[in-house]
Amino acid sequence: MSMLCRVRPELAAFRAYASARRSGFEARIRLDANECPWDRHEDGDDIDAGLNRYPSPQPQDLRARLAKLYDVDPRRLWLGRGSDEAIDLLLRAFCRAGRDNVVALDPTFGMYRIGAQLQGAEYRALALSADDDFAFDADRLLALTDADTKLVIVCSPNNPTGALYHDARIEQLAAQLAGRALLVVDEAYIEFAGVASATALIDRHDNIAVLRTLSKVHALAGARVGALIAREEIADLIGRISAPYPLPSPSVRAALGAVLDEVALARTQKRIATLLIERARVADALAASLLVRKVWPSAGNFLLVRFADARDAFARLLDAGILVRDFSAQSGLTGCLRITVGRPDENDALLDACAAPSPPTASSLGERAGVRGRGSNESQRLAHSESPPPRLALSTGFAGGEGKAAEPNP
Ligand SMILES: Cc1ncc(COP(=O)(O)O)c(C=O)c1O
Repeated sequence: MSMLCRVRPELAAFRAYASARRSGFEARIRLDANECPWDRHEDGDDIDAGLNRYPSPQPQDLRARLAKLYDVDPRRLWLGRGSDEAIDLLLRAFCRAGRDNVVALDPTFGMYRIGAQLQGAEYRALALSADDDFAFDADRLLALTDADTKLVIVCSPNNPTGALYHDARIEQLAAQLAGRALLVVDEAYIEFAGVASATALIDRHDNIAVLRTLSKVHALAGARVGALIAREEIADLIGRISAPYPLPSPSVRAALGAVLDEVALARTQKRIATLLIERARVADALAASLLVRKVWPSAGNFLLVRFADARDAFARLLDAGILVRDFSAQSGLTGCLRITVGRPDENDALLDACAAPSPPTASSLGERAGVRGRGSNESQRLAHSESPPPRLALSTGFAGGEGKAAEPNP
């Protein structure tokens, strides 16, 4: 059964705004879009050529390249302003305000809850335990669903915990949600995990949607380019309800450059390798810091770290000119800061700032004796995972299971 039957009924046959560029006609003289006929670039202004024209709603060259990179049929790909836009549009497409609900993990990426709230959809979250390394039980997640559940969102690697859930549970969940809800697998950080994408499951399950982004590993957060990968009817629906021109021309150019050829991808590949080594190094060093209680294993480009005093650590880092993300006020994440893995010199500065604590008290020393043991286990696991890094390839996407960067959470 197509998942279109679960879309808001009034949208199933929704007709997209007939924008000028959607018509598909090409002509030498374009007088169809109320654009300015003069190109500022030709005036000598320091801007890209062609910005006087509206862009293609879904540029074919970028679509073709990303389809190749992700190893999917281009008809299953919709490109938008970051995966944020895809999340927003999925919620808008499926959820009836005041009636439908969305199920996700907690903690996870905050935009799912915000998007659900904006759409008037109920947000149901399965609380994961830090003590259990944020393990999740698919049956408990399913138990939160009912006849009005439209989306179930699994972020893997999960932000902000770094936990990886790419295993048999994804397909099992899709099978159990068949005909009822769309399983959205957010793979914003998958390139750092070295596991196969859930896109391979879309052939077998019409209710899986995968989110990818150029914001992380491809170093284009400022360009705002992300992808939704799903069965053609879903990708097509999202295209119909989206803004007429979701992708600004300069962003398209930047994205094309980032995934243009093997040279560009090899550069990205090298950066992944460096970040994985740095992730293990930073995790190791933080685990040994007297300020730190725990460093969780991470399959992303960040580490969730519990500090003895998160407020103090945050202030100490800020004093050193380093901004990290404070999650300590979030339920279940007491004492936790999320630290993005930076360049080696940035990580050195972070570790320097964490290396000079005031003398520990007798009681905290006792506490730390146990903590040290945990820390070194984490670092052993992370260090063990360093090589080889996951491989990028234009034709095959990311090699499944190769170069596993961190152990999945149980
Ligand atoms: C899990 C996750 N999904 C999606 C996004 C949004 O990414 P984009 O920049 O593609 O909108 C983020 C951003 O941090 C994220 O952490």
